[in-house]
Amino acid sequence: MPSVDEPFTLIIFGASGDLTRRKLMPALFALYAARTLPEPFAIVGVARTEMSTDEFRRRMRDAIVEFGRVQPPSDIVWERFARTLFYLPGNPKDPELYPRLQRFLEEIERGRSGPENRLFYCATPPSLYDDIVEHLGAARLARGRDGWTRIVVEKPFGQDDDTARALNRQLARVFREEQIYRIDHYLGKETVQNLLVFRFANGIFEPLWNRNHVAHIQITVAESIGVETRGAYYEEAGALRDMMQNHLLQVLCLIAMEPPVTFDAAPVREEKNKVLQAIRPIDRTQVAEVALRGQYGPGFVEGKHVVGYREEKGVARDSRTETYAALKLFVDNWRWAGVPFYLRTGKRLAKRVSEIVIQFRRTPHMIFRRQPTGAGPNHLVLRIQPGEGIALTVAAKVPGPELHLAPVTLDFRYGEVFGGQPPEAYERLLLDAIHGDATLYARGDWVEQAWAILAPVLEAWRESDAPLPVYEAGSWGPPEADTFITGWDGWAWRNP
Ligand code: BG6
Repeated sequence: MPSVDEPFTLIIFGASGDLTRRKLMPALFALYAARTLPEPFAIVGVARTEMSTDEFRRRMRDAIVEFGRVQPPSDIVWERFARTLFYLPGNPKDPELYPRLQRFLEEIERGRSGPENRLFYCATPPSLYDDIVEHLGAARLARGRDGWTRIVVEKPFGQDDDTARALNRQLARVFREEQIYRIDHYLGKETVQNLLVFRFANGIFEPLWNRNHVAHIQITVAESIGVETRGAYYEEAGALRDMMQNHLLQVLCLIAMEPPVTFDAAPVREEKNKVLQAIRPIDRTQVAEVALRGQYGPGFVEGKHVVGYREEKGVARDSRTETYAALKLFVDNWRWAGVPFYLRTGKRLAKRVSEIVIQFRRTPHMIFRRQPTGAGPNHLVLRIQPGEGIALTVAAKVPGPELHLAPVTLDFRYGEVFGGQPPEAYERLLLDAIHGDATLYARGDWVEQAWAILAPVLEAWRESDAPLPVYEAGSWGPPEADTFITGWDGWAWRNP
């Protein structure tokens, strides 16, 4: 790993876009304000929009003020940061852009001592990735004179297993695997990382973390927002591609993986890959039993009336794109044989909540059978957002002369214990890419395998002309979701 004090240049393709404004620039500024960025550095925005470097700096300041976790504390700090920002207008499809970019970078880096370290960031629509990669290669920008060159590729990484494979091949023609950083911002979330600490830095849970004690696992990523301004993109994607293939399967891997030997990229990513390899392939003829979809109709979210998906901008009036998806998966290995993993995600659901529920088995013999009880089997909730924390529900005796049982929750909240606002996922992930740490990035074969797992569902849903279940905006999804999970033993989704 290079020294953290080496200079670097970050080149963002798609610098006039939403991701740069909402996520990348606020994250970079927060890192700078916390003095965690190695110096000296430069950030070069590239996009088709014609504008000067001064104009780019102004826009980025506005973006940080609007979306930043950390606000420019003073003009001096802002001025110093602004001096590291540059802008080069150009079309990423145009091969002529790249020799110009090379000269532009040399100009900026001139007079700076130390190696020529460069991080390219693809924050454009994915249709431009092929061109960017090819032209970077042709212009000899994929290998520095000295120092490192890396590339971050945003999601969606392909549309299915074929396109993901093709994109991996295209990247491999120009970059070595260790130069490629496939980003999944869920892996940068504090609580997602904490999951690993919870599992592997505490000895007491690991003995319970298997089929002998766990009855089933739920992973929920619920959003209350709709598709907002992204109707056109979402029409092509849907919940399965937008969330399930990446964020939810990543979380599943962290929950289900074996302990890696160390917390380093190679062993962690190896263990995650083994989980995907163990996921039972979905039989094309049984998709209806293990996968459920839905689309939101009009309704009320947080007290406000909202339109249905088909009325959103950029969405077809007869759209069949799913805005809700649930899956039942099995990890066929020694640890998890027979334990169902229920995954669900959707837009315009009752509230924004991402959490994991580990539902433990009942006690083998209940001696309090004659006593009134509202307490079920223990469950552990790992809350990713909001209100990051961990809660364990246990049965307790209600005080009084009678023996009544009730569930009580041992609740730990990160905010209360550590205070402050946790850093944004992009802060952690950008810094990792700059430091050359790929532990929280996806490996090429992981992405392909994740698509392959979903392929039968994507195919069955594409070919089916059965009516799409509609759910009311502000509810917990289509009514069918309730019976999807109640296999036996009164299981139900935890709708917090
Ligand atoms: C993105 C999806 O990857 O994740 C969006 O494209 C979704 O549709 C977002 O809204 C959710 O991220 P977060 O961090 O708000 O949970």
